[in-house]
Amino acid sequence: MKHTILVSGGYGQLGFELERLAPALSAFEFIFTDRDTLDITDPGAVAKAFEQHKPAFFINCAAYTAVDKAETDRELALAINATAVGIIATSCQKHNTKLIHISTDYVFNGKGTSPYQPDDAAEPLNYYGETKYQGEQLAMKHNPDTVIIRTAWVYSEHGNNFVKTMLRLMGERQELNVVNDQVGSPTYAKDLAAAILHIVNAVHTGEKTFQPGYYHYSNTGVISWFDFATAIKEIGQKSCEVKGIPSSAYPTPAARPGYSVMDTHKIQQVYGVALVPWRPSLETCIHRLQSN
Ligand SMILES: NC(=O)c1ccc[n+]([C@@H]2O[C@H](COP(=O)([O-])OP(=O)(O)OC[C@H]3O[C@@H](n4cnc5c(N)ncnc54)[C@H](OP(=O)(O)O)[C@@H]3O)[C@@H](O)[C@H]2O)c1
Repeated sequence: MKHTILVSGGYGQLGFELERLAPALSAFEFIFTDRDTLDITDPGAVAKAFEQHKPAFFINCAAYTAVDKAETDRELALAINATAVGIIATSCQKHNTKLIHISTDYVFNGKGTSPYQPDDAAEPLNYYGETKYQGEQLAMKHNPDTVIIRTAWVYSEHGNNFVKTMLRLMGERQELNVVNDQVGSPTYAKDLAAAILHIVNAVHTGEKTFQPGYYHYSNTGVISWFDFATAIKEIGQKSCEVKGIPSSAYPTPAARPGYSVMDTHKIQQVYGVALVPWRPSLETCIHRLQSN
C-alpha cells in the first residue's frame, strides 16, 4: 500500500511546484488540498483529513503571505500562520505523521552581517514574521517530530511574485526604481519543492533518517532586489531602465530586513539536498514564462 502525503496550500507557488514534481515519487499517494478542501484554521476539518488519510507526511505550504496586509489584518494572519500550525502539529503527533512546515527568513531581524544559521535567535521585524515565528514554536511544541524549512524571496511561474511583477512592469514602463540596500537570496519554488521531495524520498528509502529541527533553503548567491531586477531585465530581454534606490525612498507598511541571507549548508549536510545557484533557476523560470 502506498504511503500518503497530505499537502496544504496546494495551489500556492510551492504547492503548485510540488504537484508538478510529485509523479516522480511513485511510492507515495499525494493529496493536494486548498483552502476550500482543507482550511487549516478549521480544527474539525484538519482532524477529519488526518482520520481519513492517515498521512505519513504532512507538508504545510498554506500561509498568509501578504506581508504588508498582515500589519492590519492581524487576526487572520495569526490564525493561518500560527494557530493553524499548532492544530496541524497536534494531529501529526496523534497520527505519527512527519511534519514538514515552511517558514521564512522574516523571523530574523535583518540586521546581520553574516548568513543566519538555523539556530540563530529570532527577532521578527514585522507582524508577518511574528506570526511565522509563533507558527514555528507551535509546530515544535505540539509535534517535536517536525522539520521546519525557512525560505526566502520565493518566485515561480505561478501566482504573484517579484519576477512576474517586474516582467509586467518592465513591459509597461520605461523606468523602474528598485531598492538596492536590501540583500538576500532568491528561491525558485521548483527548487524548494525538489528539496522537500528529496528529503521525503531519502527518509522513505532509509537513505537518511528523519532529523527534526530547523533548516534553511534558498538558492545560493547573495544579491539585492536591484540586482535581481537587473537580471530579470537581462534574461527577459526588456529595455526598461532599472534604477537603484534606498529603502528610505520606498516606504512600506511592514518593515523589511536589510540583510536576509541564510546559511543553507545544514539541509545539504543532513539530507544531501543539492544547493542550486540563483541565476540558472531564474533563467529557467523566465524561459518557461515566456514560452507560454
Ligand atoms: N512567497 C515568498 O516570498 C516567501 C518567502 C519566505 C517564506 N515563504 C513561505 O513559503 C511557504 C509557501 O509560500 P508560497 O509563496 O507558496 O505562498 P502562496 O503562493 O501565497 O500560497 C499560500 C497558499 O496558502 C493558501 N491558504 C491561505 N490560507 C489558507 C487556509 N486557511 N487553509 C488552506 N490554505 C490556505 C493560499 O490560498 P488562497 O490563495 O486561497 O489564500 C495559497 O494558495 C509559506 O509558508 C510562506 O510563508 C514564502
